[in-house]
Amino acid sequence: MKTKRIGILTGGGDCPGLNAVIRGVAKTAIHRHGMEVVGFLDGFEGLIEKRFLFLDHARVSGILTMGGTILGTSNRANPFKRLVIDEGAVKEADASDDCLQLYGDLRLEALICVGGDGTMAIADRLSRKGARIVGVPKTIDKDVMETETTFGFDSARAVATDAIDKLHTTAQSHHRVMVVEVMGRNAGWLALESGIAGGGDVVVIPEIPFDIEAIIGAVRKRSLYGKRFSIVVVAEGAKSVGGEQVFQHSPGGGVQQPRLGGVGRLIAEQIEKHPEMECRVTILGHLQRGGPPTPCDRLLATQFAVKAVELAANQQFNHMVAQKGGRLVPVPLERVAGKQRRVPLDSPLIEAALALGMHLGAD
Ligand code: F6P
Repeated sequence: MKTKRIGILTGGGDCPGLNAVIRGVAKTAIHRHGMEVVGFLDGFEGLIEKRFLFLDHARVSGILTMGGTILGTSNRANPFKRLVIDEGAVKEADASDDCLQLYGDLRLEALICVGGDGTMAIADRLSRKGARIVGVPKTIDKDVMETETTFGFDSARAVATDAIDKLHTTAQSHHRVMVVEVMGRNAGWLALESGIAGGGDVVVIPEIPFDIEAIIGAVRKRSLYGKRFSIVVVAEGAKSVGGEQVFQHSPGGGVQQPRLGGVGRLIAEQIEKHPEMECRVTILGHLQRGGPPTPCDRLLATQFAVKAVELAANQQFNHMVAQKGGRLVPVPLERVAGKQRRVPLDSPLIEAALALGMHLGAD
């Protein structure tokens, strides 16, 4: 009887904990189930372009603490929309049949797709074409549907909180308003949780459109109470009441994706129109995705990995591993694909922020 074999790929933006998953999957598959493990390079690009390697014990040894992904990733590669240059023009082609062919040629029992909502949507489509998939949710944004958390989030929250802590000293010393813009795409988890953990004064999230006059009013009110500085934490996906999200870069077609960013600067410009308020902006950007995973993310990533291999071994395919009520459970990919989990307005986090007297950008 031939040795069973599973594949793994990491898709979308990188984050701390991806290597912990790769290691956890490979070790569990090899030691517990006697399987072989194939790692595809650069996310779905490796599946499309037949670029892969075998993950033996030696290849995954020593990577638990490393940020990024030893397999590489891509947030552009999509087997259903492969970008090809045809007579000088960029066109989309469907390479999904080729991917399934490779999947079959490699005799894969299952393909473990580690990624966010985009990766899960592609994984779901591949599963409908016959691939046996197991999903593992990753992202610093914590916006994957049907799971309470994703690995990568805790590490990013630690970076953002540390930045807010550090900005406090300058804010206090110079009596300034410090605006800090954090990532999170269309969800405010990262801004809200780092804002609460770092003791921010105003936290602006995409789920609550902001009113610039309300933000300025909150800063002014603090000064009336003798607080001569304020920390304003802004999620990159925030937008004003009746306004639009702010993008750094307009999509140029082809491989370019629209990139959120810059709303913090716009808010600071408005604050600085008031001469009594001196303001500085810090955009944390990709620092939030770097560095080693926190112990919490290492644990979560490792547990997700063990569960994913268990699902594959038990032939429970086309599900994503999710955390619900603190336990790891499988949820059908179709319930996750194409959706984003945003901060509900009745979240206990919002309640706590308001109870503390934090301002959430709107009256
Ligand atoms: O989804 C993770 C994330 O870091 C978002 O928070 C951010 O909007 C986006 O990716 C940035 O993507 P890129 O690395 O392509 O600039």
